[in-house]
Amino acid sequence: MNVYHLLNDFPILQREINGKRIVYLDSAATSQKPRQVIQALVDYYEGYNANVHRAVYKIGEEATQAYEGVRQKVADFIGAKDTGSIIFTRNATEAINLVAYSWGRENVGEGDEIVLTPMEHHSNLVPWQLLAAERGATLKFIEMNADGTLDLGGLDSTITERTKLVSVTHMSNVLGTINPIRQIADAAHAVGAVMVTDAAQSAPHLALDVEALGADFVAFSSHKMLGPTGVGVLYGRRDLLEAMPPFIGGGDMIKQVWLDRAKWNDLPWKFEAGTPNIADVIGFGAALDYLNGIGMEVVRRHEIEITEYALRKLREVEGLTMYGPANVENRGGLVSFNIEDVHPHDLATLLDRDNVCVRAGHHCCHPLMRMMEVSATARASFYLYNTPEDVDALAESILRAREVFARVAV
Ligand SMILES: Cc1ncc(COP(=O)(O)O)c(C=O)c1O
Repeated sequence: MNVYHLLNDFPILQREINGKRIVYLDSAATSQKPRQVIQALVDYYEGYNANVHRAVYKIGEEATQAYEGVRQKVADFIGAKDTGSIIFTRNATEAINLVAYSWGRENVGEGDEIVLTPMEHHSNLVPWQLLAAERGATLKFIEMNADGTLDLGGLDSTITERTKLVSVTHMSNVLGTINPIRQIADAAHAVGAVMVTDAAQSAPHLALDVEALGADFVAFSSHKMLGPTGVGVLYGRRDLLEAMPPFIGGGDMIKQVWLDRAKWNDLPWKFEAGTPNIADVIGFGAALDYLNGIGMEVVRRHEIEITEYALRKLREVEGLTMYGPANVENRGGLVSFNIEDVHPHDLATLLDRDNVCVRAGHHCCHPLMRMMEVSATARASFYLYNTPEDVDALAESILRAREVFARVAV
């Protein structure tokens, strides 16, 4: 992969603000989109815009074929054998909520336990809080080590006969930690619990294989993996999905309807009520083609190199604290950090003067921030289009910002 070559595919990365290029280091929030994805949206709207699953005319058939073709691409991308297991949602958040509402309300009751970790994004915490409160269930949390990894020593006492569901992020959006989902899934299955993994941060960066991962449900979002916003995926084990009631009712999710009742459609359409986000699903297909064209192993290797370089450069900055595992093989392509006596929001604002885009805040992880005893962090996150020069720009901009704050302090 020639990253300098590949940059030409991303129109936004050609943009200059005040005569300076954009250094985009916020791909964990949302990734940039290559021309090929943007073109797929234009092609659909200009060439075959029609609703899916209903029209017998040519462009309707083309739209249906393109939309359903992406389902197959998603299944292939994550190693799923069955397109019936691939449900399109609005985002990873909705995918997790689908499980919480549909599976959760059917299977979780008084006194049952749901096991999570303190590093979960609010999207993989709040839906379970709602479920637990409604059903009288209890939330339990796997302990964490000081380096931001999970402490699996006590797994047997956390996941017990009372556990109904375990839901753990595959990759932390704050610490970068890659969690051993297979090991946790095995512990969940040993007590008959269901395993969910939030792959919002891992699907864009790792070669996913849902069979090897061992999770029963996997959720992720298109917009973090070069695709458009407004599309998420829930992968689910067919037997579980078959037994679950629908999440949302309406058109497309039914086979037959009477005045007082309805018969549900087959999988996966049972869970896709109403007109889906056709254009953006098609755009997502173009994103998967793009990633496949490069190869996820290559993407991962590039990110390891960039992250390694970033860790090295940032270690040289006096007063800078980094969070998360030290070993790059165990972490994704992002670095959260703080600088002594500087609020991350102020830091991010100063970096913006150099067009260096980083995220500052709690990253939708209030409990983790509390545990880390910080109110917020700055976060630089990388993707296949980031170069060592981007990391240099970040480090230089941080040093400039630190000088400004040193002057203010005097
Ligand atoms: C780990 C993790 N889970 C879930 C989400 C939610 O993704 P979305 O907002 O696309 O639903 C995010 C988004 O930042 C995330 O980082």
